Amino acid sequence: MGFENINMEASFNILFVDDEENILRALRRLFLEENFNVYTAKSGKEGLEIIQDKEFAVIVSDQRMPEMTGTEFLLRAKELSPNTLRIILTGYADINAAMDAINEAGAYRYITKPWNDRELVHIIKEAANRYRLIKENIYLNELTKKQKEQLEIWSKELEYYVQIHTIDLTKKDKELKALKDKLTNNKKELMELFDEILTLRGKALFNHSKRVALIAVEMAKRLSLTTAEVETISVAGSLHDIGKIGTSDMLLFKEPQELSSDEFKQYIKHPILGQRAVKVVSYLQDVALLIRHHHENFDGSGFPDNLKRGKIPLGSRILSIADRFERLSRNRDIDEAFKIIWHSLDKEFDSELFIYLESAAQELKFSLFSSEDIIEAEISINDLEPGFIVAKDVYGLSGLLIIKKDTILSEKTIDLLKSAFNHTTVKGAISVYKKRKGFQLN
Ligand SMILES: [Fe+2]
Ligand SMILES: [Fe+2]
Repeated sequence: MGFENINMEASFNILFVDDEENILRALRRLFLEENFNVYTAKSGKEGLEIIQDKEFAVIVSDQRMPEMTGTEFLLRAKELSPNTLRIILTGYADINAAMDAINEAGAYRYITKPWNDRELVHIIKEAANRYRLIKENIYLNELTKKQKEQLEIWSKELEYYVQIHTIDLTKKDKELKALKDKLTNNKKELMELFDEILTLRGKALFNHSKRVALIAVEMAKRLSLTTAEVETISVAGSLHDIGKIGTSDMLLFKEPQELSSDEFKQYIKHPILGQRAVKVVSYLQDVALLIRHHHENFDGSGFPDNLKRGKIPLGSRILSIADRFERLSRNRDIDEAFKIIWHSLDKEFDSELFIYLESAAQELKFSLFSSEDIIEAEISINDLEPGFIVAKDVYGLSGLLIIKKDTILSEKTIDLLKSAFNHTTVKGAISVYKKRKGFQLN
């Protein structure tokens, strides 16, 4: 639907219809100085012809005319040009006819003959102004309608665009997820394969590797390393001694200081052999590097590269102290293991890592021992100590789960258990894992 902006500056068309030529002349003269395009017609018929071609702001028609009365003419003019302001010009005697024109032909108002010039000009100007407002209103309505339509088109297009892109993204997302799953699976399978290889060489090597990984990960977390760094250290911990799978049993179970010089020459190759094996996997380059340096000493006296202090990768320094601690704590009291490590600080180990080792070992106490060292026992609630691991779910008398299996007890959880059972008449005992013998919890 087409529409045009209205030009406020342009002069409006006005039409006077009267069968008396002298009246039309007087009117033309009256509006000579005004900013209107004045048209005149001598009859209703002629007036209608003019209206066909032009848009008029105001039409003023005499009521008494032969053939067609002013009311009839204005009624038909209304059909042709509904927005035009229509005014009827009438004598005093014809007031009733003027009222008809207003009622039937929707005339804007009537003017009585003889008119007052100034008043007439004022009325016509007022009518023209009203016409301008009507047109503006129409224009604004059209504009709003058009903008609304445009907005609807845009919104439909946008919706379509979003849908297309969502479909696209969902598809890409799925593909990416599938790839990720595949990669995760591959990684998982590869780690399982490594575990299998380590286990084949000996359960002890596998257990040692896993426990070193556990301690190292706990330390790394306490050092606020990133998730990726913790993951690298975890994998490196599990694989740090993979270079030993080709060596003799002697090398596997003896401490380095117990080895003959020939055996020692063999032994010091395992970090490089391990690095070489792991390096084959492209995404394990960082892991391979940590493995190479897990026997470097802090003072530069280690192997294979005699790296010193900060030159040794942090992950390797962590693995080194975790590795030694794991081996020491296997057959001696935990405090004694710490004492030995303590004396080697700044020589073998980075002294700054000691507190993290202590804290990590504290957290893991029981998991550090192989399953053979652990027994399950019923312990009275009053005899519980921090570090015990709950072996079976514990339920209250109401059947509510109080504490879950595998929870490592802390002083706080023990207190909670005690107060939970104090409110019952039952003297509770719960199943926990504890070391078979000789192990003291603090
Ligand atoms: Fe090693
Ligand atoms: Fe080791």
